[in-house]
Amino acid sequence: MTDHALLDAAPVPASVLGRGTATLQNAFAGLLEQPADGLLGLIALHRADPRPEKIDLGVGVFRNDAGATPVMRAVKEAEEILLGSQDTKSYLGAEGDVAYAELLAEIALGRALAGSERIVGVQTPGGTGALRLGAELLARARPQASVWIGNPTWPNHAPIFAEAGLSVKTHRFYDVARATIDFDGMVHDLAQAAPGDILLLHGCCHNPTGAALSNEEWQAIASLCADRGLIAFVDLAYQGLGDGLEEDAQATRMLFEALPAVILAYSCDKNFGLYRERVGALWVQAPGTQVAATVRGNMLSLARGIWSMPPDHGAAVVRTILEHPELRADWARELDEMRHRINLLRQTVAAQDSRLGFIARQRGMFAMLPVDGVAVAAMRRDNGIYMAGNGRINIAGLTAQNVPLFVAGLAPHI
Ligand SMILES: Cc1ncc(COP(=O)(O)O)c(C=O)c1O
Repeated sequence: MTDHALLDAAPVPASVLGRGTATLQNAFAGLLEQPADGLLGLIALHRADPRPEKIDLGVGVFRNDAGATPVMRAVKEAEEILLGSQDTKSYLGAEGDVAYAELLAEIALGRALAGSERIVGVQTPGGTGALRLGAELLARARPQASVWIGNPTWPNHAPIFAEAGLSVKTHRFYDVARATIDFDGMVHDLAQAAPGDILLLHGCCHNPTGAALSNEEWQAIASLCADRGLIAFVDLAYQGLGDGLEEDAQATRMLFEALPAVILAYSCDKNFGLYRERVGALWVQAPGTQVAATVRGNMLSLARGIWSMPPDHGAAVVRTILEHPELRADWARELDEMRHRINLLRQTVAAQDSRLGFIARQRGMFAMLPVDGVAVAAMRRDNGIYMAGNGRINIAGLTAQNVPLFVAGLAPHI
């Protein structure tokens, strides 16, 4: 009897007892229960709240004045072009869409750097994929290195680097009570960093604080990396949502010009509004062209072992937009409109209460309020204002109409 006939003939038993049964019954016993994602819980609570005046400042997506996260105009048009012109869904390869990465490099790094043979880049699934691939590359290149992240930072940073096997250390970054960057504290803590350690930096629009380093402070960071031999790893997830496409890339480009080894994890998910399509890229600047080729080979072999190749659609949309001058111009215009909305809301909030003046000075979608978990819960209960437990708010969740309600609800707690 062939194996196939045997399978067909034998009824499938409810359970098969064998010497390994006890082992199989404990197959997942090593796993610990994981805490639920706080922001997802917040979405559910907000949805269940019947109050019409409720305000959702939790999830980090752009919203327009109607509270929607629309598909950008240029994205819709690019999707139509793709629908009509795409004639295969065949594999692209581990590097993804090569033209996408080349065109995007000019937006992120500028034309001069984008042409450098010491810089290699690949498409990744979102900024998260770029961070993870960069972390895996570093874990291969420098397994003993520590990654230094600021306090606070995007909550995913620590797990991404830790899961790749690197040790994660924290430096001071932001003083919530004074609503300013604690630059002296940051430099003081980084004195503990060893040569070859990695320094994670937000290129613009810091999440969760919105606080930006000054030009002088960025220069000091570049000098510190050069003096101490630290590898700058820039996370650029909000280019164009702070001060403008060029302005938001200045610090990143300065680091690439100043330092021989730099890494950039990039996300198109916010500035092209492509969140669920998972569009990102990773660029690495190596000290020489030969090392760059080795880095590229390692990026590709790591990518093959994690996701094999990135999803195509979102990157094809970005490439199509960047290839068509009129779509590119419209994308840049709509991004300007989004940024203006955020910055106008920042000014409107700050104008309502002088204690909130810091919000107008900061940039990007987020701000961190000087409130504790008790105040966050009270605002949710009493005013229908929803925000993350650490006081992070998504500015774009506000509207011109509800800013007074928001400030009135917040005022007793600051
Ligand atoms: C600072 C920062 N880096 C990276 C990302 C990752 O973005 P993506 O959705 O493209 O993975 C985010 C998303 O919220 C972020 O805030």
